[in-house]
Amino acid sequence: MADAMKFSDGAGYEAMMGVWSALIGADFLDWLDVPDGSRWADVGCGNGASTELIVRRSKPTSVEAIDPSPAQLEFARNRHHSGVATFTLGSAVQLPYPASAFDVAIMALVIFFVPDPAKGVAELRRVVRPGGTVAAYAWDIEGGGFPYEDVHLAMRSTGAEPILPPHSEVARLDALYRLWTDAGLMDVETREIVAHRVFPSFDDYWATAVSAPGIGQVLAKLGAQQVSRIRDSVRGSHGLGELTVQGRAHAVRGRVAT
Ligand SMILES: C[S@@+](CC[C@H](N)C(=O)[O-])C[C@H]1O[C@@H](n2cnc3c(N)ncnc32)[C@H](O)[C@@H]1O
Repeated sequence: MADAMKFSDGAGYEAMMGVWSALIGADFLDWLDVPDGSRWADVGCGNGASTELIVRRSKPTSVEAIDPSPAQLEFARNRHHSGVATFTLGSAVQLPYPASAFDVAIMALVIFFVPDPAKGVAELRRVVRPGGTVAAYAWDIEGGGFPYEDVHLAMRSTGAEPILPPHSEVARLDALYRLWTDAGLMDVETREIVAHRVFPSFDDYWATAVSAPGIGQVLAKLGAQQVSRIRDSVRGSHGLGELTVQGRAHAVRGRVAT
Protein backbone atom coordinates (compact mmCIF):
# COMPACT_ATOMS: atom_id res chain seq x y z
CA MET A 1 0.00 0.00 0.00
CA ALA A 2 1.24 3.56 -0.78
CA ASP A 3 2.50 5.62 2.16
CA ALA A 4 0.09 8.10 3.71
CA MET A 5 1.11 11.64 4.59
CA LYS A 6 2.03 12.06 8.25
CA PHE A 7 1.33 15.35 10.05
CA SER A 8 3.57 14.93 13.07
CA ASP A 9 5.44 18.24 13.38
CA GLY A 10 3.39 21.34 14.24
CA ALA A 11 6.30 23.79 14.00
CA GLY A 12 7.49 22.42 10.67
CA TYR A 13 3.92 22.50 9.42
CA GLU A 14 3.66 26.20 10.22
CA ALA A 15 6.48 27.24 7.84
CA MET A 16 5.52 24.70 5.19
CA MET A 17 1.73 25.09 5.15
CA GLY A 18 0.40 27.23 8.03
CA VAL A 19 1.65 30.41 6.33
CA TRP A 20 -0.12 29.39 3.12
CA SER A 21 -3.29 28.50 4.97
CA ALA A 22 -3.39 31.96 6.53
CA LEU A 23 -2.86 33.64 3.12
CA ILE A 24 -5.68 31.70 1.42
CA GLY A 25 -7.80 31.68 4.57
CA ALA A 26 -7.92 35.48 4.81
CA ASP A 27 -9.73 35.70 1.45
CA PHE A 28 -11.85 32.70 2.33
CA LEU A 29 -13.09 34.18 5.63
CA ASP A 30 -13.84 37.51 3.94
CA TRP A 31 -15.88 35.61 1.36
CA LEU A 32 -17.85 33.74 4.07
CA ASP A 33 -18.67 37.06 5.74
CA VAL A 34 -19.87 35.37 8.94
CA PRO A 35 -21.06 37.82 11.63
CA ASP A 36 -18.83 38.50 14.65
CA GLY A 37 -19.84 36.55 17.74
CA SER A 38 -20.60 33.31 15.88
CA ARG A 39 -19.96 29.76 17.12
CA TRP A 40 -17.42 28.04 14.82
CA ALA A 41 -16.24 24.48 14.22
CA ASP A 42 -12.76 24.17 12.63
CA VAL A 43 -12.63 20.56 11.47
CA GLY A 44 -9.11 19.32 10.72
CA CYS A 45 -7.65 22.30 12.60
CA GLY A 46 -4.12 20.85 12.35
CA ASN A 47 -1.57 22.99 14.19
CA GLY A 48 -4.18 25.74 14.68
CA ALA A 49 -3.25 27.91 11.68
CA SER A 50 -6.88 28.07 10.53
CA THR A 51 -8.18 28.34 14.11
CA GLU A 52 -6.03 31.38 14.93
CA LEU A 53 -7.06 33.06 11.69
CA ILE A 54 -10.74 32.60 12.62
CA VAL A 55 -10.03 34.02 16.09
CA ARG A 56 -8.23 37.08 14.67
CA ARG A 57 -10.46 37.89 11.70
CA SER A 58 -13.93 36.62 12.57
CA LYS A 59 -14.17 37.45 16.30
CA PRO A 60 -15.99 34.23 17.23
CA THR A 61 -17.73 33.56 20.53
CA SER A 62 -16.25 30.06 20.44
CA VAL A 63 -14.27 27.74 18.17
CA GLU A 64 -14.41 23.96 18.56
CA ALA A 65 -11.27 22.74 16.78
CA ILE A 66 -10.73 19.06 16.06
CA ASP A 67 -7.97 16.98 14.42
CA PRO A 68 -6.77 13.35 14.52
CA SER A 69 -3.06 14.30 14.96
CA PRO A 70 -1.97 14.61 18.64
CA ALA A 71 1.27 16.44 17.61
CA GLN A 72 -0.60 19.05 15.58
CA LEU A 73 -3.10 19.55 18.42
CA GLU A 74 -0.33 20.04 20.97
CA PHE A 75 1.16 22.83 18.86
CA ALA A 76 -2.32 24.34 18.37
CA ARG A 77 -3.03 24.36 22.12
CA ASN A 78 0.33 25.96 22.91
CA ARG A 79 -0.07 28.77 20.39
CA HIS A 80 -3.63 29.61 21.46
CA HIS A 81 -3.85 32.38 24.05
CA SER A 82 -7.28 34.02 23.87
CA GLY A 83 -9.12 31.02 25.39
CA VAL A 84 -11.87 31.17 22.75
CA ALA A 85 -10.94 27.84 21.16
CA THR A 86 -11.11 24.27 22.49
CA PHE A 87 -9.00 21.55 20.85
CA THR A 88 -10.21 17.95 20.63
CA LEU A 89 -8.76 14.76 19.16
CA GLY A 90 -11.13 13.26 16.57
CA SER A 91 -12.15 12.83 12.97
CA ALA A 92 -14.39 14.69 10.53
CA VAL A 93 -16.37 11.52 9.86
CA GLN A 94 -17.62 11.29 13.45
CA LEU A 95 -17.79 14.69 15.10
CA PRO A 96 -18.32 14.55 18.86
CA TYR A 97 -20.76 17.49 18.78
CA PRO A 98 -24.56 17.57 19.00
CA ALA A 99 -26.75 18.56 16.03
CA SER A 100 -27.11 22.29 15.28
CA ALA A 101 -24.36 23.25 17.77
CA PHE A 102 -22.63 25.80 15.49
CA ASP A 103 -23.35 28.80 13.28
CA VAL A 104 -20.58 27.81 10.88
CA ALA A 105 -18.35 24.78 10.30
CA ILE A 106 -15.31 24.69 8.00
CA MET A 107 -12.60 22.37 6.73
CA ALA A 108 -9.46 24.29 5.70
CA LEU A 109 -7.15 22.18 3.47
CA VAL A 110 -8.72 19.03 4.92
CA ILE A 111 -11.50 17.57 2.76
CA PHE A 112 -9.14 15.56 0.53
CA PHE A 113 -7.70 13.81 3.60
CA VAL A 114 -11.06 12.67 4.96
CA PRO A 115 -11.48 8.93 4.26
CA ASP A 116 -15.12 9.43 3.21
CA PRO A 117 -15.47 13.08 2.08
CA ALA A 118 -19.28 12.86 1.66
CA LYS A 119 -19.59 11.60 5.24
CA GLY A 120 -17.39 14.50 6.39
CA VAL A 121 -19.67 17.04 4.68
CA ALA A 122 -22.75 15.31 6.12
CA GLU A 123 -21.20 15.68 9.58
CA LEU A 124 -20.49 19.40 9.02
CA ARG A 125 -24.10 19.87 7.95
CA ARG A 126 -25.43 17.94 10.96
CA VAL A 127 -23.59 20.09 13.50
CA VAL A 128 -24.57 23.46 11.94
CA ARG A 129 -27.91 25.08 12.79
CA PRO A 130 -30.53 25.81 10.12
CA GLY A 131 -29.45 28.91 8.21
CA GLY A 132 -25.81 28.45 9.20
CA THR A 133 -22.80 28.06 6.89
CA VAL A 134 -20.83 24.96 5.84
CA ALA A 135 -17.66 25.73 3.89
CA ALA A 136 -14.23 24.45 2.86
CA TYR A 137 -11.19 25.17 0.77
CA ALA A 138 -8.55 22.83 -0.62
CA TRP A 139 -5.58 23.03 -2.98
CA ASP A 140 -6.47 22.47 -6.63
CA ILE A 141 -4.03 19.57 -6.73
CA GLU A 142 -5.24 18.06 -10.02
CA GLY A 143 -5.04 21.49 -11.70
CA GLY A 144 -1.49 22.17 -10.45
CA GLY A 145 -2.48 24.63 -7.68
CA PHE A 146 -0.42 23.00 -4.89
CA PRO A 147 2.23 25.58 -3.92
CA TYR A 148 5.11 23.09 -4.24
CA GLU A 149 3.84 21.67 -7.53
CA ASP A 150 7.18 22.35 -9.25
CA VAL A 151 8.86 19.97 -6.81
CA HIS A 152 6.21 17.34 -7.58
CA LEU A 153 6.93 17.76 -11.30
CA ALA A 154 10.69 17.50 -10.79
CA MET A 155 10.24 14.36 -8.65
CA ARG A 156 8.08 12.73 -11.35
CA SER A 157 10.66 13.59 -14.02
CA THR A 158 13.08 11.29 -12.14
CA GLY A 159 10.50 8.55 -11.58
CA ALA A 160 9.70 9.47 -7.95
CA GLU A 161 6.02 9.83 -7.07
CA PRO A 162 5.05 12.39 -4.40
CA ILE A 163 2.46 11.31 -1.84
CA LEU A 164 -0.85 13.04 -2.50
CA PRO A 165 -3.91 13.31 -0.28
CA PRO A 166 -6.06 10.18 -0.77
CA HIS A 167 -8.92 12.15 -2.36
CA SER A 168 -7.27 14.93 -4.43
CA GLU A 169 -10.16 14.67 -6.89
CA VAL A 170 -12.68 16.21 -4.46
CA ALA A 171 -10.86 19.56 -4.69
CA ARG A 172 -12.09 20.14 -8.25
CA LEU A 173 -14.67 22.94 -8.34
CA ASP A 174 -17.33 20.67 -9.85
CA ALA A 175 -16.64 17.95 -7.28
CA LEU A 176 -16.92 20.40 -4.37
CA TYR A 177 -20.16 21.78 -5.80
CA ARG A 178 -21.59 18.26 -6.12
CA LEU A 179 -20.53 17.22 -2.61
CA TRP A 180 -22.22 20.27 -1.12
CA THR A 181 -25.46 19.96 -3.14
CA ASP A 182 -25.61 16.17 -2.61
CA ALA A 183 -25.41 16.87 1.15
CA GLY A 184 -28.60 18.93 0.81
CA LEU A 185 -26.92 22.30 1.36
CA MET A 186 -28.56 25.38 -0.17
CA ASP A 187 -27.23 28.41 -2.07
CA VAL A 188 -24.02 26.55 -2.90
CA GLU A 189 -21.24 28.61 -4.48
CA THR A 190 -17.66 27.83 -5.40
CA ARG A 191 -14.67 29.99 -6.27
CA GLU A 192 -10.94 29.96 -6.86
CA ILE A 193 -8.58 31.66 -4.37
CA VAL A 194 -5.01 32.50 -5.37
CA ALA A 195 -2.23 33.50 -2.97
CA HIS A 196 1.41 34.50 -3.46
CA ARG A 197 4.25 33.98 -1.03
CA VAL A 198 7.75 35.41 -1.22
CA PHE A 199 10.69 33.18 -0.23
CA PRO A 200 13.94 35.07 0.48
CA SER A 201 16.11 32.56 -1.39
CA PHE A 202 15.98 29.28 -3.25
CA ASP A 203 17.57 27.53 -0.26
CA ASP A 204 14.74 28.75 1.95
CA TYR A 205 12.16 27.62 -0.61
CA TRP A 206 13.75 24.19 -0.96
CA ALA A 207 14.03 23.64 2.82
CA THR A 208 10.37 24.61 3.20
CA ALA A 209 9.14 22.47 0.30
CA VAL A 210 10.96 19.34 1.42
CA SER A 211 9.37 19.63 4.86
CA ALA A 212 6.01 18.90 3.16
CA PRO A 213 5.23 15.33 4.23
CA GLY A 214 4.24 14.24 0.71
CA ILE A 215 7.66 15.38 -0.56
CA GLY A 216 10.00 14.81 2.41
CA GLN A 217 8.77 11.29 3.18
CA VAL A 218 9.55 10.28 -0.43
CA LEU A 219 12.92 12.08 -0.73
CA ALA A 220 14.06 10.41 2.50
CA LYS A 221 13.91 7.05 0.70
CA LEU A 222 15.79 8.16 -2.44
CA GLY A 223 19.51 8.16 -3.06
CA ALA A 224 21.51 11.40 -2.74
CA GLN A 225 22.06 11.61 -6.51
CA GLN A 226 18.38 11.45 -7.34
CA VAL A 227 17.58 14.08 -4.69
CA SER A 228 20.29 16.33 -6.19
CA ARG A 229 18.78 15.93 -9.66
CA ILE A 230 15.36 16.93 -8.33
CA ARG A 231 16.80 19.91 -6.46
CA ASP A 232 18.84 21.08 -9.46
CA SER A 233 15.80 20.81 -11.72
CA VAL A 234 13.67 22.97 -9.37
CA ARG A 235 16.50 25.48 -8.90
CA GLY A 236 16.94 25.67 -12.67
CA SER A 237 13.49 27.14 -13.05
CA HIS A 238 13.96 29.68 -10.20
CA GLY A 239 17.58 30.71 -9.80
CA LEU A 240 19.13 31.21 -6.35
CA GLY A 241 17.65 34.54 -5.23
CA GLU A 242 14.29 35.68 -3.87
CA LEU A 243 11.31 33.99 -5.46
CA THR A 244 7.56 34.44 -5.45
CA VAL A 245 5.45 31.30 -5.49
CA GLN A 246 1.76 30.98 -6.27
CA GLY A 247 -0.77 28.63 -4.69
CA ARG A 248 -4.31 28.14 -5.93
CA ALA A 249 -7.16 26.71 -3.89
CA HIS A 250 -10.81 25.97 -4.55
CA ALA A 251 -13.43 27.04 -2.04
CA VAL A 252 -17.07 26.13 -1.50
CA ARG A 253 -19.80 27.45 0.75
CA GLY A 254 -23.44 26.55 1.35
CA ARG A 255 -26.23 27.12 3.84
CA VAL A 256 -28.16 24.62 5.95
CA ALA A 257 -31.84 24.72 4.95
CA THR A 258 -34.15 26.50 7.38
C1 LIG B 1 -3.11 20.45 5.53
S1 LIG B 1 -3.59 20.22 7.18
C2 LIG B 1 -4.74 21.59 7.46
C3 LIG B 1 -4.67 22.12 8.86
C4 LIG B 1 -5.35 23.46 9.10
N1 LIG B 1 -6.78 23.39 8.90
C5 LIG B 1 -4.77 24.57 8.26
O1 LIG B 1 -5.53 25.28 7.61
O2 LIG B 1 -3.56 24.75 8.28
C6 LIG B 1 -4.66 18.86 7.07
C7 LIG B 1 -5.12 18.34 8.43
O3 LIG B 1 -6.16 17.40 8.23
C8 LIG B 1 -6.08 16.49 9.29
N2 LIG B 1 -6.89 15.30 8.98
C9 LIG B 1 -6.52 14.17 8.35
N3 LIG B 1 -7.55 13.29 8.34
C10 LIG B 1 -8.59 13.89 8.97
C11 LIG B 1 -9.91 13.50 9.31
N4 LIG B 1 -10.39 12.29 8.99
N5 LIG B 1 -10.69 14.36 10.01
C12 LIG B 1 -10.22 15.59 10.33
N6 LIG B 1 -8.98 16.01 10.04
C13 LIG B 1 -8.17 15.18 9.37
C14 LIG B 1 -4.59 16.24 9.43
O4 LIG B 1 -4.26 15.68 10.71
C15 LIG B 1 -4.03 17.64 9.23
O5 LIG B 1 -3.83 18.30 10.45
